[in-house]
Parts: sequence; structure tokens; C-alpha cells
Amino acid sequence: MTPQSVDVLIVGAGAAGMMCAIEAGRRGRSVRLLDHARAPGEKIRISGGGRCNFTNTGTGPANFLGENPRFATSALKRFSQHDFVKRVDRAGIAWHEKTLGQLFCDDSAKQIIRMLTDDMRAAGVVLSLGVSVERVARVADGFEAALSDGTTVRSRALVLATGGKSIPRMGATGWAYDAARQFGLRVTDTRPALVPLTFEAGLLETLKPLAGVAVDVSVTAVPASSSPKGDRPTFNEAMLFTHRGLSGPAILQISSYWREGEAITVAMAPGEDLYARLKAAKEENGKQMVHTALGHIIPRRLAESVCDREGIKGKLAEVGDKTLRRLDAAVNGWTVKPVGSEGYRTAEVTLGGVATDQLDQQTMAAKEVPGLYVIGEAADITGWLGGYNFQWAWSSGWAAGQVC
Ligand code: FDA
Repeated sequence: MTPQSVDVLIVGAGAAGMMCAIEAGRRGRSVRLLDHARAPGEKIRISGGGRCNFTNTGTGPANFLGENPRFATSALKRFSQHDFVKRVDRAGIAWHEKTLGQLFCDDSAKQIIRMLTDDMRAAGVVLSLGVSVERVARVADGFEAALSDGTTVRSRALVLATGGKSIPRMGATGWAYDAARQFGLRVTDTRPALVPLTFEAGLLETLKPLAGVAVDVSVTAVPASSSPKGDRPTFNEAMLFTHRGLSGPAILQISSYWREGEAITVAMAPGEDLYARLKAAKEENGKQMVHTALGHIIPRRLAESVCDREGIKGKLAEVGDKTLRRLDAAVNGWTVKPVGSEGYRTAEVTLGGVATDQLDQQTMAAKEVPGLYVIGEAADITGWLGGYNFQWAWSSGWAAGQVC
């Protein structure tokens, strides 16, 4: 059978692949976009609790991790969060800022998918679903891909847009990494990120009664002495106790920085001088139980658990300053060592990917492999929680779409 010829073959119809397809199609390129899933943009559909946190108004390179997060600067500037918001507005999609610059659809994430698929249709993009690439090779001026439907496609440009390994049951594969390696590109170590952290059985048993308790915290990862020194930001968001350990936005954020063997430090009443507050409570009403007084500052179940763990019982009048200071430290300097994470099964993203020193930061093109591009999560750029990952997908997809 004669191979079909297109200008651009994009593998992966997620956020990055669709954006790239639209841009290349608008430039008059013939574009074939394929995905082994039955529908495009499945992660968009389930994102943000079904409302898609599609960008963050504060997006900048500081919100990203990777060997060289500054690699992202050019694409993020050329197609910024404001550019994406303009498209959302043009499509008539109502949105709101939830918190910390995070923009969500008022109605449904499906509106974002519809906007992208409408734009693809208008740009003449051919979308093939339920198809994957069995083999791909370089040929004279381009690539030849043998597809799972038995056909062959030749293209001048090949765009790797299959994302990372997170949530395999949604069709995530490491295909882009394998394809990149096949073409001689380096892939950095990958690991689950934006993922709940887990505790060992003994600690879990102690914390069991807290499952379901949520509290606003400030959390930092404490690097082990052997770890490379790097920035370990502090995140001020909510934390949730679970049956396996800890979750909630603050923990998902810190999971991208935490490494096995390291501890995290959590302030569960951030910004509060607990010692001073408990001392004042003692002067006001010494008959109050310590855990009751603490329960006015942090959730009651958590207050009980902390007092239990510290062996602090009785009334405020019965405890001295030293004990109050110990309680303050137990609440605002809780240092705990997770044993692991929930892994790719629940991780929102994959840290690591195709090394950015092999890619051109303006175009996402592989420097040594003419016509090859790597966009979105497949590249070694990973955002914080809060719309940053989609913005990277839009920006990198857009950048490749200008030239491929
Ligand atoms: P993406 O994973 O979106 O797309 C890759 C595509 O490639 C998929 O359609 C897949 O089926 C296809 N594919 C994979 N292997 C293939 C193969 N071998 N052959 C053919 N096709 C293949 N981010 C954010 O900014 N805001 C948010 O609200 C959320 N929420 C969120 C919730 C959940 C539950 C998850 C798991 C993730 C998020 N994220 C997020 C992260 C965000 O979804 C993610 O970073 C982007 O979808 C990455 O876009 P890509 O296009 O790079 O990959």
C-alpha cells in the first residue's frame, strides 16, 4: 500500500498535540494527529475536577521543575497565559479565578476540548483516534511511521506529544521517551510528581483517626544531607490526611521536590504563634482542656491527635510553659518522613522527560534530528499544581506549531 504523505505527523492528541496541530494547520501544513485513545484530550476532560484549571495568571519559569526550567521561558513568553485566555474568551467560555491565579471553566472542561477540536477542524487537521505507531524510522527528508491500523504515513515533521507516564489506566505510556531515545535523544530520569505521599504502617496506624481531616498548612521538603542542594520552596495550601498518608494541594506540590529518604516539615497553624495563643487561653480559662484550646486553632481531631502523640493531657492550668512550647513545635514544626508516593497510578504529572539541552527552546525541535519535535509533558519541564502544566502544553505546542 502506498504510504500516505503529510507535512506533519503528531502523535498524542492531548493539550500540547492539539495546540500544535491547530497552529501548523493554520499555516497551511497538512497535519495528521493520532492518538490511541477513543477521544482526544482525555486528561483535559478529567482535569480540575471536570472544570479544567486551564492556566495560571502568574505563570513564569519559577513555577517549573526540570534540569533547566529556564528552557520554558521563550515558549511561555511567546504564547502566554494571557494569549490562551484570549482564545478561551473568543470561544465564549466563561471562567473564573479560583485561588492563587488558577483559572477554571465555570461550566465544563469539555468546553476546552470542544474549542480545540473546532479549531482543529477549521485548520483542516486530520484526527485519527484508536491508532498508535508500531514502528517509526527516519527516511530521506522525514519520517515513516507504521501504524497499528496497518497503514504507513510519511511526514516531513514528527511531533512527539504523548505526554508522561502518569495515570496508565487513562492511556499514558512512555512512548515519547522510547521514540526520543530511538532517535538518539537523552531522556532524564522520570518519577511521579504532584502525587500523594505515603507513610509506613506504624505511623499510619497512629494517624488513622485523622483520615479525612483537612487543614491549611505551610510545607517544605527537608533535603537529606546527601541530596544535591537546590531550591526547596515552601507551599501554603491545604493538606489532607488520607488512609495511606498525606494528600491535598500542599502535599502534591511538595511531592515534586521530595525524594526518598527525606522528611517534610509541616506547619499546621502557619503564621500562628501557638505558644502565645495557648498561654493567653490559659490565663483566660485555665480549666479548659489543652486539646480543646488547641482545637480552637486547628481542626479538633488533629488537636486531639497531636496532644495524644505528645502525651499532653489535662487542663491548661496543669501544663507549664515548656509543654506549651513543645506543643507549638509539634504543630508548627511537624517533621515527618514519608516512605513513598502513590506512584504513577494517581500522579498528576511525570517529572523528567526528554532532556531540554537536546531541544531548541524557541521551536521545541531536536537540535540534531531535523524535523523531530518534543512538546508538552514529554519534555523535561514539569509545572507546579495550579494550571501551569496545561500552560506549558499550550505554549510548547504553539511554539512547535509555528515552524513544523
Ligand atoms: P497528555 O497526557 O495530555 O496527552 C498525551 C496524549 O497522548 C493522550 O491523549 C494519550 O492518549 C496519547 N498517547 C499516549 N501514548 C500514546 C501512544 N503510544 N500512541 C498514541 N497516543 C498515545 N494540569 C493543569 O495545568 N491543570 C489541571 O487542572 C490539571 N489537572 C490534572 C488532573 C489529573 C487527574 C491529571 C492526571 C493531570 C492533570 N493536569 C493538570 C496535568 C495535565 O493534564 C498534563 O500536564 C497535560 O495533559 C500534558 O499535556 P500533553 O499534551 O503533554 O499530554
